[in-house]
Amino acid sequence: SLDTAFAALAEEARLETASLTDPEAFRLHWLGRKQGRLKLISEAWLKSAPPEAKKALGIRFNQLKQQIEAALESPATATKSAVQGIDITLPGTLRTPGIPHPLLKTMHEIVSVFHHLGYSTNLGPQVESDFFNFEALNFPPNHPARDTQDTLVIANQHSRPSRDRLLMRTHTSPVQIRTMIAQAPPIRIVIPGKVHRNDAADATHSPIFHQIEGLCVDTNITFSDLKGTLDHAMKALFGSDVKTRFFPSFFPFTEPSADVQISCIFCGGKGCRKCKHSGWIELLGCGMVDPAVFAAVTAERRKINPSDDAYNPEKITGFAFGMGVERIAMMLHGVSDIGHFYSGDMRFLEQFA
Ligand code: PHE
Repeated sequence: SLDTAFAALAEEARLETASLTDPEAFRLHWLGRKQGRLKLISEAWLKSAPPEAKKALGIRFNQLKQQIEAALESPATATKSAVQGIDITLPGTLRTPGIPHPLLKTMHEIVSVFHHLGYSTNLGPQVESDFFNFEALNFPPNHPARDTQDTLVIANQHSRPSRDRLLMRTHTSPVQIRTMIAQAPPIRIVIPGKVHRNDAADATHSPIFHQIEGLCVDTNITFSDLKGTLDHAMKALFGSDVKTRFFPSFFPFTEPSADVQISCIFCGGKGCRKCKHSGWIELLGCGMVDPAVFAAVTAERRKINPSDDAYNPEKITGFAFGMGVERIAMMLHGVSDIGHFYSGDMRFLEQFA
């Protein structure tokens, strides 16, 4: 229609006004006496228009001419109205996009090393029962090893059978049990998650922290597989120059058990303050799954299938390992106080963007 045609022309002129750099060229383009657009368009339209429409057309062309003349007289005002009163000289507002928290980022890095080895991920509850957190992991009731875990228990449960009493999980190992009850070997899983201990907070301790657990159960799994897997994982995380060494240790649910040390990533093993001049840093606990754990899993599985034999230790073996995420993140990024991770201080967090 006529209205849309004129609106389009007016909008075209308005846009050109908004970015006006050469007013004379703009004037010639629209108002030039011989080749100006208004001249050419009005000639063409007026020629083909029926006589009774010519007056209205003339008025429209005049309005358009006035708009263009006004823009030429005062381009600044025209520009301002063109962007609808927004002051484009004001500085912009910087909006920072969100980023993954450094702890989550570290967890993803560790988990991804194991994903590349064919492991999948499992999760479990943070409020856990005594059975999964302790009993099935070969911590008998009243066993002194329980004291090493500084357990936070849920109050008022004395009327419940001890295996059902609830607590905050002290490690991610209960998810080993949950996984094996739910599925038969072969198993290759990593378990990232929050754990809780009744520890006073200081530069290296927090009552809530994160672990990543690993569990591999299959036929013919040996201690060499454990060593090779963890040696590879440490090199993938800290660099191919890193060395690992294994020391005898104890956990109720692994036998034999080991603590793993890596060569100090700060001094390359020469000895410095960070590694207390030993050249080595202790990083994780591990071991071969104790047959007592397979026995506890089998007892549970037989409640559903009395002839279940999937975790017969004569047929399968396995290894497990557990590491603290905060400790690794602190080493990777040179963070000296664990509290920075939980402070929500943007000056700290922004450094991981
Ligand atoms: N669950 C142990 C801890 O929290 C770590 C560990 C996991 C050790 C798996 C051996 C095997 O200290």
